[in-house]
Amino acid sequence: MKPFVIVNCAMSIDGKIAFPDRKQAKISNDEDMARVHKLRDECDAVLVGIGTVLSDNPKLTVKEKYVQNPSNPLRVVLDSNFRTPRDAEVFSGDAPTLIATTCREFKQGNIEAIKCGEGKVDLKKLLDILYQRGVKKLLVEGGETVIWEFLKQNLVDELYVFIAPFVIGGRTSPTMAGGEGAFSQESIIHMKLEDAQRVGDGILLKFVPHSPKT
Ligand SMILES: NC(=O)c1ccc[n+]([C@@H]2O[C@H](COP(=O)([O-])OP(=O)(O)OC[C@H]3O[C@@H](n4cnc5c(N)ncnc54)[C@H](OP(=O)(O)O)[C@@H]3O)[C@@H](O)[C@H]2O)c1
Repeated sequence: MKPFVIVNCAMSIDGKIAFPDRKQAKISNDEDMARVHKLRDECDAVLVGIGTVLSDNPKLTVKEKYVQNPSNPLRVVLDSNFRTPRDAEVFSGDAPTLIATTCREFKQGNIEAIKCGEGKVDLKKLLDILYQRGVKKLLVEGGETVIWEFLKQNLVDELYVFIAPFVIGGRTSPTMAGGEGAFSQESIIHMKLEDAQRVGDGILLKFVPHSPKT
């Protein structure tokens, strides 16, 4: 069994999710931020990759500005070699944190590291462990390598994309899905559009997995 996996991503018109040097860009407007924080609050865990921790240093908690008495779900970082800095915001005392590695195992207060896979974190194994621990709904917040891998392994149940009305450009700017990408028509990852709604000055799209008829 695996948790219900929701992926959320904010991009510019041209599909970029950060600046060309991978530094964080403010893409969501305030209405979208409120939606994301409510979504976090409804989930049992929030997951990012080590790339996002190193570039954005997110806290991954639910802001009281958006949700009263937030639940602050478990924070999960995919970090094969345990590169998360000791002073990273994901280690703030506001919520428990699980570092999924391939090299270390320990528990110290509300910080835990587990070994899960060889070389890089085995996503299916990790989802199974999370489910056994009571995580029924997981929010994946990025970045591009992690989102690609979840999509490629067919682990995504819902995908939310907020598109802001500006262009970032840049050949090296990360997009929603990085990784190696699809090299043929057959390996393209298909999704079905379920909903589209205006959110302030941007648009929110909701997709679900879809197998097109051949
Ligand atoms: N706009 C948005 O919504 C949004 C949200 C989040 C992030 N971002 C942006 O995304 C960028 C970061 O993306 P990124 O691709 O560099 O980093 P990332 O996707 O956050 O993390 C990727 C890293 O996770 C680790 N990992 C371990 N197991 C993995 C697995 N099974 N599958 C995939 N990754 C695994 C790998 O590092 P190890 O081999 O060391 O484990 C991998 O390099 C930043 O520019 C950030 O600002 C944007």
